[in-house]
Amino acid sequence: MGVTMQKTAIVTGAARGIGLATTRLFLDEGRRVAMIDRDAQALQEAAEGLENVLPVLCDVSRPDQVEVMVAEVLAKLGRIDALVNNAGVADFGPIDQTDFQRWRTVMETNLDGVFLCSQACAPALKETRGTIVNIASISGLRASTLRVAYGTSKAGVMHLTQQQAAEWGEWGVRANCVCPGPVATKLAMAVHTQDIIDAYHDAIPLNRYGSEEEIGNVIVFLSSDKASFVTGQVIAVDGGFESTGIGLPSLRV
Ligand SMILES: NC(=O)c1ccc[n+]([C@@H]2O[C@H](COP(=O)([O-])OP(=O)(O)OC[C@H]3O[C@@H](n4cnc5c(N)ncnc54)[C@H](O)[C@@H]3O)[C@@H](O)[C@H]2O)c1
Repeated sequence: MGVTMQKTAIVTGAARGIGLATTRLFLDEGRRVAMIDRDAQALQEAAEGLENVLPVLCDVSRPDQVEVMVAEVLAKLGRIDALVNNAGVADFGPIDQTDFQRWRTVMETNLDGVFLCSQACAPALKETRGTIVNIASISGLRASTLRVAYGTSKAGVMHLTQQQAAEWGEWGVRANCVCPGPVATKLAMAVHTQDIIDAYHDAIPLNRYGSEEEIGNVIVFLSSDKASFVTGQVIAVDGGFESTGIGLPSLRV
């Protein structure tokens, strides 16, 4: 199959966690994958041993770097069929301790990065009638303590997805949003204490954390032709957490 015929995907934050698992699942589907990350060493280690990948060092919060990254992907892979805006950072703290720099650090990757990468890929996605999957979080679906920056950034990602679906639908470009529940990645383990882990197990109907692959499978499905009439949707992949809310423990069976 010629390079320009083979479908491609861009996955941001691909050096580890959900992004790396999603990269592997796209490769299993026969896609070439541009792996985007700002952590040079982790990116190199993740790409080693994988075939059909193009690792590109890029901070998605930097407009200049995003422009160069998309140009490199197009020059080397020839087309963009799917964009997965997965790169994210977490910083949990009370509102009065979240100074403007902490707020900006979260916003610039989690929300600015999604805006910038999507806009830069839009002309190429228009050509392929491609797809966007943005990764938000259950923290964007409902408010909770300590999530002023993280939760607000993820709620913004959900709405940005709907804006993209509304404007780019006429090009045949679909945009959907996945809201993962807890997954034991480096990002989550940096902010989840044992108390939080136990409480999640208790509150999630399936009584456990999800795996990176369980999130990636839904991302790959939404990026595929099997989801050809699905756009503008926000889908929680969370073991039932969001649908049940935090019920009263005394009312549980
Ligand atoms: N793990 C969870 O429990 C969980 C739950 C809900 C949502 N999410 C979301 O899933 C996504 C992936 O998270 P993960 O748990 O796999 O995290 P992770 O920390 O394991 O991986 C994130 C990757 O993104 C990269 N990255 C961060 N900022 C970047 C930037 N500005 N430019 C380029 N790369 C950048 C990091 O270097 C890292 O390789 C994030 O958007 C996160 O908010 C995760």
